[in-house]
Amino acid sequence: MAYAAFRSIGAYVPSSILTNEDLSKMVDTSDEWITKRTGIKERHIAAKDEFTSDMGAKAAQIAIERSGIDKTQIDMLVCATISPDYFCMPSTATIIATKLGLKNITAFDISAACTGFVYVLSIAKAFIESGMKKNILIIGAEKLSAITDYTDRGTCILFGDGAGAAVISATNNKDEAIIDIHTGADGEYADLLMTPNGGSGSAHDSLTQEASSCFMQMKGNETFKVAVKTLTKDVIDILEHNNIQSSQIKHFVPHQANLRIIKAVGDALKLQDEQVVLTVEKYGNTSGASIPMAINDIYEKGELKAGELMLLDAFGGGLTWGSALVPFSPLKK
Ligand code: ACO
Repeated sequence: MAYAAFRSIGAYVPSSILTNEDLSKMVDTSDEWITKRTGIKERHIAAKDEFTSDMGAKAAQIAIERSGIDKTQIDMLVCATISPDYFCMPSTATIIATKLGLKNITAFDISAACTGFVYVLSIAKAFIESGMKKNILIIGAEKLSAITDYTDRGTCILFGDGAGAAVISATNNKDEAIIDIHTGADGEYADLLMTPNGGSGSAHDSLTQEASSCFMQMKGNETFKVAVKTLTKDVIDILEHNNIQSSQIKHFVPHQANLRIIKAVGDALKLQDEQVVLTVEKYGNTSGASIPMAINDIYEKGELKAGELMLLDAFGGGLTWGSALVPFSPLKK
């Protein structure tokens, strides 16, 4: 049986920065409020002509170069995004594939909001273990600034743009294998976090509505409470299921939505500060891109070494959630 190995990571962050000070000139908020309630100081914003696929392709290019796998060997590309280049079609994955010069591969998007990267990781694992594919490029890429209402202080302070990517490939060595992935969803909570207009369920005539009606809306406080409960249960379940202690986790990589949520989950697991990866301060919430961007951060700081165990944990619109136990298994040691 083939196993799935997490070979490499890459990320891209646009150069323009939107600080809390900048936001306090746009809506009734302050650096103090945002820092205290979220831990966010700044977020990066893509240029007007810079699309989700541009960021995804740049992150993917780095992940491919670091993987030691020739790009002609890549047989599938899956992109997690809730801010695709185009509504409905074509998928952002197919555009990224073309930008990378990848021909005749399977390519598609998935929509699982902030859990998107854990979902695409689970898809890659399943395709590889079934023997259908050998080298899969997974991407989380978001231009959330395009679907953010910059007059709504409850959401605009949270979100940023960016992309992260990883190469997952087949191995016969069980020690290199992704250990386990759990994913879940509950549409009962769909209204906590949604873009209510623009789709077939829209109350508006989709041909005449304004672009602004496709912005994200969130019941932040209710989402916060469900997030803490779900994220904590999620990681406890996957650790127990695999008989792994939290002390064995080298890097806990949670979705970067809010510092208070991450701290609550870390405390419940009795994690040490050095086990918890934090990027929320500088990138804000980049939804499906947040986990691979955070993994890339520790990789580029030289803190992620071959064989080290990562615990990924995500939660987002849908509602969706997921966790994964992933050893870092580069081909180039
Ligand atoms: N600046 C100043 N005051 C504000 C701001 C702001 N930016 N936003 C809200 N407030 C006010 C509210 O109006 C409210 O005022 P009131 O007491 O007079 O009514 C007060 O602050 C408290 O508001 P809450 O919404 O209760 O604030 P909370 O502490 O919950 O923080 C936040 C809000 C940061 C949004 C938090 O609830 C949160 O992080 N929620 C979870 C986000 C999340 O995890 N989402 C899932 C992933 S995202 C995805 O899937 C795309």
